[in-house]
Formats: sequence, structure tokens, C-alpha cells
Amino acid sequence: MRVVHTIAELRQALAGAKAPAFVPTMGNLHEGHLALVKLAREQGGPVVASIFVNRLQFAPHEDFDRYPRTLERDCELLKGVGCNVVFAPDEAELYPEPQTYKVLPPPELADILEGQFRPGFFTGVSTVVMKLFQCVQPRVAVFGKKDYQQLMVLRGLVRQFALPIEIVAGETARADDGLALSSRNGYLGEAERAEAPQLAAALRKIPAGLEYGERDLAAIEQRAMDGLRTRGWAPDYVALRRRSDLQPPTAEQIDAKEPLVVLAAARLGKTRLIDNLEI
Ligand code: PAJ
Repeated sequence: MRVVHTIAELRQALAGAKAPAFVPTMGNLHEGHLALVKLAREQGGPVVASIFVNRLQFAPHEDFDRYPRTLERDCELLKGVGCNVVFAPDEAELYPEPQTYKVLPPPELADILEGQFRPGFFTGVSTVVMKLFQCVQPRVAVFGKKDYQQLMVLRGLVRQFALPIEIVAGETARADDGLALSSRNGYLGEAERAEAPQLAAALRKIPAGLEYGERDLAAIEQRAMDGLRTRGWAPDYVALRRRSDLQPPTAEQIDAKEPLVVLAAARLGKTRLIDNLEI
């Protein structure tokens, strides 16, 4: 496995090889990331993982500075799952001048849910992913369903810019108690870690209401958020949406078993966790 830090070294490492399968990350890797690398290996061709904590997708009050940076350990883990090239640029390499050209995703997809609580987040994600795609020039890119809206935004980016890249989605990797694995779980104190699986548990309760014929989405979402609040959480949203466009389904669509997803974000102490469940 080669670890490269510049675009020139990356191009050299990939010269003459088949177009790679690519797994972009911000590092501090866990089993969820490694499962994506394993998926990437199934695509044939070399596997490239990138590690870059992207300042553009953090608001000034967010955790950019304290986001865990664990490059050495990450590289060991990546080697263990058969990654071929790690691209770990520093900021001066990826943003040698202020990144004033940006990729602006559509507000109807990017300003809702996460975008409502993290303005500009999906512009930052789309911009860095577009740039990483240009560096790596992959045939396939693998993203996790854990960040469901991100996956949708990036599918739209590839489609609308006609990028010759296939997006492959990996299922959410979870701890035994149901908590979705996340680099941010490391911020949780012991008591918070014990409480954290309740976010996934709240999502799992939602399909039952629908099966009993409940159609008042606002009431379903409110009940889930109230339940979390009672347990000490500060929810940003719990939202039942169509998988196709992340807009609310009509009662008729629920009756017709339209594929849905329930998405949630909530703070536990100082840590903000997100999760979702396809139903
Ligand atoms: P990061 O949070 O490091 O996640 C990298 C990839 O791992 C994303 O595709 C994410 O959805 C996936 N992932 C995270 N936790 C997962 C889990 N428990 N199960 C399955 N997949 C999981 O997402 C980003 O970085 C950044 O926004 C990035 C796309 C790299 C752009 O900066």
C-alpha cells in the first residue's frame, strides 16, 4: 500500500493502472469505513482511500479543530483490508488558494434536514468530492448510507455533471447495541455512550405507527423527538421522507408502500449524532 500526500504523487501511483474504486473519508477510521473499502475491492481495479478533514464543510462553531486526526493508525487499518493507495493531502495541497469556485447543490435537496442545521455543509462536501474525483479519477466511488442525504446529494452531482463514475452505497455499520459507528462517537462520555443507541431505537419505533395506519407525519416525528427530549437529547429533526427525493410522502404514497427513510439528528451533551433507517 502506498501513502501519498500530493496530487502529483497520486497521479504517478495510479499511472497505467485501471481506473480505481475510491473511498473518500475524513479519517479516524472505524469498521464502517473499512466495510466501504471492502466493497470497493469487489469492484475490481485498485482501491484508493482519501483522508482529508475538509474545512469547507465545517461551520466556524463546529469541530474542525478537534476532529480526530489519526493518520498512522488509519493507514494500518487500510492496509489490513487491502487498500492500495491512501491519498492524504494537507490543506495547502488541496486548497493552495482559497477555494472560491464551488459546487452548489440544489436547495430543495441540500438546504433541508442536515442542510437546514448546517448551512453550506453540502456545498463544502460537494466541492471537495468534486475535487477529489478530479484527483483520483475513479470508475467507482463508494459512500455510506449512514450519511443518507450526503449520498443523495453526491448521486445528483455525478448525474448532473455526467461524471463517468458509478456510485456504490454501503449499508450502515453498527455496534452490537445498534449505535451507528461514527468518528464522533469518540466524543461521547461513558454515560452518553450508553444512552447513544436510543437514537437508532427511536427510529426503529416509527414503522410500527405507520403499520397501524397512522398518517400524521408531524405527530409521528414529534412523538419521536419528545421521546428523545425526555431522555436528555436535544433533537434537531426526526423526519419521515421519501427515499427518492427526501421530501415528505403523501398519505396515499404511504398506503402504496412508497420506499421511505426516516432520518434524525440529535445532540447528546456536546456531541451531535445522525442516523437513519430505510423503511
Ligand atoms: P466520513 O465521515 O469520514 O465518512 C466517510 C465515508 O464513510 C462516508 O461515505 C460515510 O457515509 C461513510 N460512513 C461513516 N460512518 C459509517 C457507518 N457507520 N457505516 C457505513 N458507512 C459509514 O462523509 C465524510 O467523511 C465526508 O463528508 C466526505 C465524503 C469524505 C467529504 O469530505
